[in-house]
Amino acid sequence: MHKHFKYTTAITRGIAKSLPAEAQRMDHTVEPVSYEKAKSQKQSYVDILRNKLGLKVIELPTDETLPDCVFVEDVVVIIDNTALITKPGHVTRIGEGTEMECCLKTLGMNVVNMAEIDPLAAVDGGDVLFTGEEIFVGVGNRSNLAGYKVICDTFPSYAVNAIVVEDALHLKTSCSLAKPGVIMVSEENPRIQKMMKSLQDVATKNYRYISVDGNAIGSNCLFVDSEKLGPVTIHPSLKAYPLIKSAYDAIGGVTLIECDMSELSKVDGALTCCSVFISI
Ligand code: GLY
Repeated sequence: MHKHFKYTTAITRGIAKSLPAEAQRMDHTVEPVSYEKAKSQKQSYVDILRNKLGLKVIELPTDETLPDCVFVEDVVVIIDNTALITKPGHVTRIGEGTEMECCLKTLGMNVVNMAEIDPLAAVDGGDVLFTGEEIFVGVGNRSNLAGYKVICDTFPSYAVNAIVVEDALHLKTSCSLAKPGVIMVSEENPRIQKMMKSLQDVATKNYRYISVDGNAIGSNCLFVDSEKLGPVTIHPSLKAYPLIKSAYDAIGGVTLIECDMSELSKVDGALTCCSVFISI
């Protein structure tokens, strides 16, 4: 179907017991995370990757001193055979990439470390949307322009577009790849609408944009072209987010698999946050 996204292996990480009390969160008024429920939902996510998609799943050991460490997407950007270990944009998250870096080096990837290239650069992988044809980088909240420049230099074969992130944790809090050529976007509020409009304005390729009204969490889905099931889009529960059903119905040509990660969403975790993928 597409030369990218045909992965063999997913990398995830356990949830630190310190997450409910200490993970970063945008909204301090939402109810506390249940560690047990989050763990059980995360296990279902891993089961989908392993059993339904047939991927090998590597689970990195958790680290209690790093409450957000389950969100492995933020510590690395992997495109083709190159893995860029990022410097996360929040001080409590610095250090999360070390375990990932060791793992990827052991697996024989070409590993580059952002902090060694530019100590002032910062990027959370949640700000990086790779469509298979170009890269969008959200800047302004967790990621900065120096980080954007490191991404341009590390992946010179692709156009890299900077998008100003406002009123959202990450770029991919408000959009994601539903399948190659199709981007799911949130229209949650006027500032996010503006951010999504600027993404559409700078895109160098023609994408189809499917809008998710209501809750932005519905705009974060996870596309994998799996050997076992072919193209799959994993999406959050339609029971929990009923308004997005028509958006998911509109994708077409993929197997839709539901995965409820509502517990981690209380600390701004979405489906893409909890895994990264490689083909080895
Ligand atoms: N809790 C995810 C983050 O703030 O980075």
